[in-house]
Amino acid sequence: MTTMKPSLLLLRLITTLTLTIILANIDGCHCKIVQFIFGDSLSDVGNNRYLTRSLAQASLPWYGIDFGNGLPNGRFTNGRTVSDIIGDATGLPRPPAFLDPSLSEDVILENGVNYASGGGGILNETGGLFIQRFSLNKQIELFQGTQELIKTKIGEESAAKFFQEARYVVALGSNDFINNYLMPVYSDSWNYNDQTFIDYLMETLQGQLKQLHGLGARELMVFGLGPMGCIPLQRVLTTSGDCQDRTNKLALSFNKATSKLVNSLSTQLANANYRFGDAYDVVSDVISNPHKYGFNNSDSPCCSFGRIRPALTCVPASILCKDRSKYVFWDEYHPSDSANELIAKELINKLGFLGDAPTPAPAPTPYVDGDVAPSPDD
Ligand SMILES: *[C@@H]1O[C@H](CO)[C@@H](O)[C@H](O)[C@H]1NC(C)=O
Ligand SMILES: *[C@@H]1O[C@H](CO)[C@@H](O)[C@H](O)[C@H]1NC(C)=O
Repeated sequence: MTTMKPSLLLLRLITTLTLTIILANIDGCHCKIVQFIFGDSLSDVGNNRYLTRSLAQASLPWYGIDFGNGLPNGRFTNGRTVSDIIGDATGLPRPPAFLDPSLSEDVILENGVNYASGGGGILNETGGLFIQRFSLNKQIELFQGTQELIKTKIGEESAAKFFQEARYVVALGSNDFINNYLMPVYSDSWNYNDQTFIDYLMETLQGQLKQLHGLGARELMVFGLGPMGCIPLQRVLTTSGDCQDRTNKLALSFNKATSKLVNSLSTQLANANYRFGDAYDVVSDVISNPHKYGFNNSDSPCCSFGRIRPALTCVPASILCKDRSKYVFWDEYHPSDSANELIAKELINKLGFLGDAPTPAPAPTPYVDGDVAPSPDD
C-alpha cells in the first residue's frame, strides 16, 4: 500500500480549493442559461401531481400517452406543452417541476425550474374550487426560495448573474376567466364588470412583473390567451355548440391590455427585454378551418367520456379519438400536442426570439418539417 506524502496531499488539496474558488468567484458564474417558467395547466409539467389535494390533475391515463413512455407525467395534454416546444427550439433544457423530488441546486443550475400549476391564475382567488394550486404570487414566492438556495450554493454575485441571464416565461390568465370571473360562485364575478376586471388583472400583473424584474428577470416573455370561448367545455355550454362569443372577446381584451402593459414595462424597467406574444388569430383560424392545417376536428376533445361530458374530462374509462394528431383539443380545456406545436410556431414567429437564442437550435427540430410526433426523448 502506498500513501501520498502528507505535504503533497496538502498541496493538491490547496490547488483544488484555489481552483474552485477562482471558478466560483473571480471568474464570475460559469452558469448555463436556463428557464424559469410561471404558468397554469398549459405549462404544468408535474407540480399538481404532488399537490395531492388538488382537483386539477393530469395524473391518470390517458394524459401523456404521446410523451416518453406514454405514462401520465403531469402535463395536461397527450404530448408536449407549448413551453416544451419553444424551449426545445431555442436550445434550452426543459426545466423540471418545482415539486419534483429530484430537484436540487445542481439540477436547478443545469435546467431551471418550472413553477406552473394547473388551476393557477394571476389572482390569488382564481381556481379556488380546485382546492390546491399555485397562484402566480405563490409561484413567485417559491422562486424567491429557489434564489436563496442558489445564493447559498454559488454566492450572491454569481447567483445574481445566473438569474439575470436566465429566460423567464409567464403564461397565465385563462383560469382568471374560466375558473373565476365567468363562474358565478366566485365573488369576482359580481364585484367587477368586464372592463374593471381586466384593469384589476393588469394592475396585479404589473406588480408581479415588476417584482420579477426586482428579482433579476431581464429576458421575459408573456404569453397571451387563445380563443378560450372555443374550448370544448365552453362550447357545450351553448345550445348551438358554438364558441362563446363573450369569452372570446374577454381573451382579446386581455391580450390587448397585456401587450400594452408588457411593452411599456420593457421600456420603463432597466435592461428589461420583456416581450408579449399570443396565438389567438392562428388558433381561431384553425378552429374555423381545421382541414387547412391538417386537422380533422376542432370542436370536441380527443379524450372524452362520451355522453356525460363535460362532467368528467379525460379519465381512464374515456374513449380516445382514432388519430390524436388530427384533433385540436386533447380534453375539455387543453390543446393537443399537434395544436401546441402550431401555437409554439406562431409564438416563435411573433416573438422573433430564435435570432437571439443562447445556443443554436438543435438541427432537427420536430416542428420545422411538420412532423407532429411528440419527442420521445423524455
Ligand atoms: C396573495 O397571496 C400571497 C401569498 O402567496 C400573499 O403574500 C399576498 O398578500 C396575497 N395577496 C392578496 C391581494 O391577497
Ligand atoms: C376526418 O373526419 C371524417 C368525418 O368527419 C372521417 O370520415 C375521416 O375518416 C376523418 N379523416 C381522418 C384522416 O381521420
